Amino acid sequence: MSRMQGKVAIVTGAASGIGRATARQLVAEGATVIGADLNEERLGEVSAELGDAITVVAGDLTDPADVDAVAAAAQDAGGADVLVNNAGIMDYFLPVTEVDDETWDRVLAVNATAPMRLIRAVLPQMLSKGGGSIVNVASIGGVTGGAAGIAYTASKHALVGMTKNTAYFYGPQGVRCNVVCPGGVETNIADGGAAPRSDWAWERMQAGFGRAQRMASAEEISSLIVWLSADESVNVNGAVMASDGGWTAS
Ligand SMILES: NC(=O)c1ccc[n+]([C@@H]2O[C@H](COP(=O)([O-])OP(=O)(O)OC[C@H]3O[C@@H](n4cnc5c(N)ncnc54)[C@H](O)[C@@H]3O)[C@@H](O)[C@H]2O)c1
Repeated sequence: MSRMQGKVAIVTGAASGIGRATARQLVAEGATVIGADLNEERLGEVSAELGDAITVVAGDLTDPADVDAVAAAAQDAGGADVLVNNAGIMDYFLPVTEVDDETWDRVLAVNATAPMRLIRAVLPQMLSKGGGSIVNVASIGGVTGGAAGIAYTASKHALVGMTKNTAYFYGPQGVRCNVVCPGGVETNIADGGAAPRSDWAWERMQAGFGRAQRMASAEEISSLIVWLSADESVNVNGAVMASDGGWTAS
């Protein structure tokens, strides 16, 4: 397949999990990818695997200079057609009475502020090319209240709101913006922020977790991201799309 032939696509969190699967699939379908991530070692592996089709940018996307570096790499490649805001972290499942400021600030910075800054930096490139597609990766935590702690839940709800706002304002100029809300996915997300730190909140959350029907592979999420990136989804804008095996339907 070559539905992404000639397209320049930015993928954040490209070193692992859903982002890595997305970068692979975009390259397989013809895109040139700018892959951004904090984890230099894993990013190096992705670079070695995908070769000339990927330019990697190592950095922390909460740093505005690193956001600028990603946007500059896309401009050098001809300007972004696609932005996949995928990088994200968890929040130790802390409810509001127990969350510390450090966790709140970091989770909001990575999951909400960085995607906004990337959209702000990259959208002008799309406008100058006559259009583009932004795909944000939220979570079922972006549409429900009982799947994570307060910081993760608030950050992903913010991303859903950002998606609709961007879709509404820039849709008439050819830039679409959609958001994917995965349920459980087999990735490396448990490496940080996934160990529960509040016993009672964790116990309370089990009621909601019990409705989860299956764990997905990263590729089962990236296939939806790539479809939303491609022109064939041209009529889909501002959509909040669950890919959760039916979790939020229960
Ligand atoms: N795995 C799940 O069950 C699940 C469920 C719902 C939503 N999600 C969302 O999917 C997205 C991808 O997560 P994943 O499951 O593939 O996890 P992952 O940990 O395997 O990959 C996330 C990547 O983001 C990178 N990253 C984190 N903070 C960064 C920063 N400040 N700057 C640059 N890169 C940074 C990490 O280094 C990592 O490589 C996240 O937004 C996550 O919230 C995951």
